[in-house]
Amino acid sequence: MLFGSKTPVGLDIGSGYLKVAQVKEKRGGYELDAFDMIPLPPELIVDGSIIDSIRLVDAIKELIKKARIRTKEAVISVTGHSAVIIKMISLPEMTEEELEESIKFEAEQYVPFDINDVNVDFQIIGPREEPGQMDVILVAVKKDIINEYVSVVKEAGLNPVVVDVDVFAMENMYEVNYDIIPNTNVALLDIGASSLKLNIVKGGAPLFTRDTPIGSNVQTEALQREFNITFEVAERLKKGESVENITEEAAQEVIMAASEEIFTEVGRSLDYYRTSMSGEEIAEIIISGGGALVSGFPEMLAERTGMEVRRSDPFQNIEISKKLDEAYIREIAPIAAVAVGLALRRVGDR
Ligand SMILES: Nc1ncnc2c1ncn2[C@@H]1O[C@H](COP(=O)(O)OP(=O)(O)OP(=O)(O)O)[C@@H](O)[C@H]1O
Ligand SMILES: [Mg+2]
Repeated sequence: MLFGSKTPVGLDIGSGYLKVAQVKEKRGGYELDAFDMIPLPPELIVDGSIIDSIRLVDAIKELIKKARIRTKEAVISVTGHSAVIIKMISLPEMTEEELEESIKFEAEQYVPFDINDVNVDFQIIGPREEPGQMDVILVAVKKDIINEYVSVVKEAGLNPVVVDVDVFAMENMYEVNYDIIPNTNVALLDIGASSLKLNIVKGGAPLFTRDTPIGSNVQTEALQREFNITFEVAERLKKGESVENITEEAAQEVIMAASEEIFTEVGRSLDYYRTSMSGEEIAEIIISGGGALVSGFPEMLAERTGMEVRRSDPFQNIEISKKLDEAYIREIAPIAAVAVGLALRRVGDR
């Protein structure tokens, strides 16, 4: 036992909500020791870029205080199609050490940015059908984006020990909470405020990832336009609170009409996957993110895609500490998926 070793917190800096989770190891299992979230004002983070770092620093400090977290070590993530490039590539079989040496060179042809402007990482998935070849996931993240996030988190008094990527955090959450069925493909889909993230995993390893800049905000914006209300009021309406004289049915109708845009994007991503990975059927979609909490949304997604859709449960194999509000946490569980995935990371993991 590493006595006194610290369990880092997972800090999910979403564009709509800031979330923090801390998961401790306990008798061979896991326990959620802290969780909380606060909304962020819109336009504070746009396209994965931090627009107002001063307000974000304050919000992080506020959240850490609210969640009563004393740990300084934090695992954070970056995201966004303009900052993160993830590619599945095929390379001649070699050891991890050998690839470590040559990855920058290999990556150059796949990364549309100057190779010196990105941090490159990789994960060897395994051998391919073709003899002598292996599948590798290549991840390149723009250094200036990492620096933006790292400096904000440091400014808030935390020590960022790992910088992860949202789609991998989703997978990490999945591995701990779900029984992995060999040779079965599952689509992990996160619907955030301003993004849609997809990670199709096969037997637990990533097969296809995609990040699209559209999310649950389209529903909020539609409510604002339709009823001439502020963003905050529209958010309350989305959560099922009664607002002025707007009926639940009227709100629901607007939300569902606006959701078409999301369904179209999900469909497009799935089509793109099917054409690039022919013959690889998807068994089910597991949805996380705040979008999964919108009443009727998962059911409608199932109808539109003709697929099995389940709400993600990041606490299936993680006990919830007695000191936390279990009923509340179970209710909002899908929105905690990325934060939990980050909280499960340990320094030195790949
Ligand atoms: N209880 C709820 N009921 C319905 N919708 C909700 C609820 N809680 C949050 N949402 C919606 O979920 C969205 C935020 O989800 P989430 O926190 O996953 O996004 P994010 O991580 O901040 O965004 P992104 O990952 O795109 O940067 C908002 O559009 C919000 O309206
Ligand atoms: Mg998110």
